[in-house]
Amino acid sequence: MLQLKKAGSQALENLRSEGSFPPSWQSMEELETTTNDIVSRYLDERFKVSRELGGGSLLTELLDRVLRTSDTECMDDTKLSEAEKLELVLALDRQNHKMQLYPRYVELLLSLLEEVTTGEQRKMRVLELASGSGGLALALAEEALRKNLPISVTGSDIVPKFVEAGNRQAAAKQLPVNFQLLNAFNLPLFPEGSFDLMVISQSLHHFTPGQLAIMIAQAAQQTKTAFVGIDGYRSILLTGGVPLMASIQCIPSFALDGLISARKFYSELELDLIAEIATGKRDHTVICDWPLSILTVRFDGRRPN
Ligand SMILES: C[S@@+](CC[C@H](N)C(=O)[O-])C[C@H]1O[C@@H](n2cnc3c(N)ncnc32)[C@H](O)[C@@H]1O
Repeated sequence: MLQLKKAGSQALENLRSEGSFPPSWQSMEELETTTNDIVSRYLDERFKVSRELGGGSLLTELLDRVLRTSDTECMDDTKLSEAEKLELVLALDRQNHKMQLYPRYVELLLSLLEEVTTGEQRKMRVLELASGSGGLALALAEEALRKNLPISVTGSDIVPKFVEAGNRQAAAKQLPVNFQLLNAFNLPLFPEGSFDLMVISQSLHHFTPGQLAIMIAQAAQQTKTAFVGIDGYRSILLTGGVPLMASIQCIPSFALDGLISARKFYSELELDLIAEIATGKRDHTVICDWPLSILTVRFDGRRPN
């Protein structure tokens, strides 16, 4: 539910039949506005199709529309101090540990890297965007060290205090992770092929479709192997489940962020559409690995698994 695959697939087909799809773009600004426009047209078209289908499709579409929000998470509120924001990402880090999410993400990323490291002598370079507390970057480096895999990890976030805290933790744990202050959709011009893998977890919904498209397009320029985006699966169950799980920590703004986030999770077809606009290709997959949606965009010509 809330994925609306039948109406969504029909809506996509209707958009494609209008011609010139995927659209060409000349600059990141153009990519951003084009993507926002197409995703909004897709949602309008999906509404029309759901109306024609009627019954359960229309009811689900209406529910999806009621739940959808563009509210900003407390975590991104410009009025919140960095120390208060840090409390929220640390709460998320505790939840990720409790739900055993890091080992799942690490296994996914390492299996992708192991596939391409065969025969390579150099270190594989991973850039994590919007890394928050740095929990994933640290877990990845720790596991790579344990397995003796040559991997260097760079974490990044837009909040300076997160970057400082991440670097402190990396030093304390003696892990080869370096955290940098980066805006995920306005990266500096790293030399072409600077990274093997770019990853972003549990944050896709913090960005507009246009900003996500920019991230993927930047990754295509600077990354050799793949872009991996991991986020919650858009569903009724998670719209209740995420805030419920978050409320266990008794931090009201964290529970509220859980609710806002689950209402903003992208459906698989939206992620699919955004990746196609950003790359002009279909070298990507979006899969459900409950309770997650995983978008993998390949830049090395290999078909994502
Ligand atoms: C839900 S948290 C996820 C943090 C981490 N990935 C995790 O799974 O615990 C979203 C993160 O996105 C970061 N963020 C928001 N806007 C950003 C931007 N423009 N560039 C980089 N990071 C950003 C926030 O600071 C926050 O750390």
